[in-house]
Amino acid sequence: MIIFDKTHNLFKIHTQNTTYAMQIVHGKYVAHLYYGTRKDDVGDFTLQRTSFAPYYPDEEENISLDWLQTELSFFGGNDLKDTAVRIRNANGDSASFFRYQTYRIFKGRVEFDDMPYSRGGEETLELSYVDEVSGCVLYSYYTVFPNSDTITRYLRFENQGDVPVKIERALSCQLDLPAGDYISITLCGAYFNERHLTETPVHVGLQGIYSMRGHSSHQFNPFLAVKSAQTTEYAGDAYAMEFVYSGDFTAQMEKTFEGKVRMLMGLNKDTFAWNLGAGETFTTPEVILTYSADGTNALSQNLHAHIREYIMPKPFAFSPRPIVLNTWEAMNFTINETNVLAYAQHAKELGMDAVVVDDGWFGERCHDDRSLGDWQANTRKFPDGLRAFAEKVHALGLKVGFWIEPEMISENSHLYRSHPEWALRCKDREPSRGRMQLVLDLTNDNAVETVVKNLVETFKDVPIDYIKWDFNRSLAETGSLNLPPEKQCEVKHRFVLGSYKMHKLLTQAFPNVLFEGCTGGGGRFDAGILFYCPQIWTSDNTDPVERLEIQKGTAFAYPLSAISAHVSNSKFNEIEDGLDYAFRFNVAAEGILGYEMDVTRLSLENTERLKAHIQTYKRIQPLLLEGDAYRLEDMQKGEYGVCVVSKDKKRFVAFYRNVNGRQREYLTLKGLNAAYVYHGENGETYDGKTAMQTGVALQGKYAMVEGRVK
Ligand code: GLA
Repeated sequence: MIIFDKTHNLFKIHTQNTTYAMQIVHGKYVAHLYYGTRKDDVGDFTLQRTSFAPYYPDEEENISLDWLQTELSFFGGNDLKDTAVRIRNANGDSASFFRYQTYRIFKGRVEFDDMPYSRGGEETLELSYVDEVSGCVLYSYYTVFPNSDTITRYLRFENQGDVPVKIERALSCQLDLPAGDYISITLCGAYFNERHLTETPVHVGLQGIYSMRGHSSHQFNPFLAVKSAQTTEYAGDAYAMEFVYSGDFTAQMEKTFEGKVRMLMGLNKDTFAWNLGAGETFTTPEVILTYSADGTNALSQNLHAHIREYIMPKPFAFSPRPIVLNTWEAMNFTINETNVLAYAQHAKELGMDAVVVDDGWFGERCHDDRSLGDWQANTRKFPDGLRAFAEKVHALGLKVGFWIEPEMISENSHLYRSHPEWALRCKDREPSRGRMQLVLDLTNDNAVETVVKNLVETFKDVPIDYIKWDFNRSLAETGSLNLPPEKQCEVKHRFVLGSYKMHKLLTQAFPNVLFEGCTGGGGRFDAGILFYCPQIWTSDNTDPVERLEIQKGTAFAYPLSAISAHVSNSKFNEIEDGLDYAFRFNVAAEGILGYEMDVTRLSLENTERLKAHIQTYKRIQPLLLEGDAYRLEDMQKGEYGVCVVSKDKKRFVAFYRNVNGRQREYLTLKGLNAAYVYHGENGETYDGKTAMQTGVALQGKYAMVEGRVK
């Protein structure tokens, strides 16, 4: 619900449990007033003056934006902190004064045509600001999603002046927090080690995370949370921003000496700029904003709910996901119809749902130095074509999927030989290679449409069920031979828009196909990709011990149903006792389970083991798709526990793993109904209250505990 209180010039955005409030001051500034637990009386704006700040002389009272907590900060005025917006005027200066102009409240939201966004939304508040000198108008949007306690934010620029301006900075979301002791939570990592949960005290000055890699990156995820120093998993204030975008980003905090913190998130402030001609508009991507008074677990639950309900494509978000057997780790480029069908036969016997033909099925692809761009089947590997192969897989009672990497181009490919200008590169400079490949210039519509057309042609008569969409290198020299010099500063964002166009066209061409995202493991695990692909390959690291940190961090910001996790046998950690499929299963089963291993050589014992695991997973998957995840408290370093509970609280599954060598006797569960008695699969009973207070008895280093009310 969005309310405008005319008497006090106050806007209040209410979700189920939160209120966000702002106030118009002197008819021209919008002050941020409050973001916290839901309430009606949010107080009134009071000016806290600090000396030495330049101010706007005013008939009412002199004000410096440097003193205010604001809703929109812009460069080149008297807010001398780091700002969300900067424009460069035609006269060369970068001054601006975006004066509040007017507001509008409307049902629903404006849907984006060229970018991912949150589908739905109850109501939207639009605030408009004008910079009278340049004629540039800025609209700031707040769409409310009451059930998930989330608000989405973005900006739209409209050049109503006569001369062009250049947008040099356009961060979608600003949140000015009151003075306090805060801790930031980010997801930091590297290739093979993505999204480790990282807590750091917010210090005076500027700090933050970013990507300049052309994708959201393995290094830093476009997610930023800030909590009060005392906040725990289940009590205290916490705020989070999550970017619905898959390219370069900035997420930062600036703390003043007085302790106030400004959070900002949006397009990367160094690699983005945009020319805005007279009459033109520019819209930024969207940020999801959320607050919890009940600690960080509720913050995660808000984001999980938002992503499942409003980001993931509707037909897939809550539908059963296939347990796939993927060919990559076991077979690499050696795949062919015969060996994949043999795998498929075994996958079926084990109870799996699909076989996914990974890299190597197209062009001359028997090595990673070639053929990206040549999206036709390799007829030596698949002599009867993909359709005949797919029909044979279907005849076994399995679904079938294929791997693609459409945003890339190999120099050794027909596509490159006929269109060398379609590779992203800076004029007269040697481009860097990554995995021996170049990147397709997605700012070029012809390149995008040709690759889409070729893929549609290849798959249109093939009964496919699944596509794994990869992206195996970062962008380095980001110039385009397709754009004039003045537009080179737009390449990074245009590239991402080209990628979204490709995602849109291909998902529309194959509406019944489940798309899985992937970027050399989890280098593009973000809400932008989840708009098209309801699940993402989390990491190329399938070591179950190392996966625990990766999945824990990922699940902090993304739902379990987004986390693709496979049991493999290509590498195992010393902590594991031999090749323990039960442990690997326990780790992978908290996400979307799959397998990538040679299933044709399993011992009889392991065959039976895997069959039982797969049956168990089929039973619990609906809970993972729809339930609420509660991280278990008092976990020591090296212990991992989560309890997933159905909405009606009548079912739960808890996962526990201990890789620190210590023995725990009881595991205290979370989120159950204290009045219920739950029954396990083997006759166990768990009293809800006892399970949450004393805990359930544990044996061994890892466990999966299931219960349901009869
Ligand atoms: C990336 C992916 C892997 C696999 C290979 C194929 O590394 O993350 O899962 O698909 O590419 O080349």
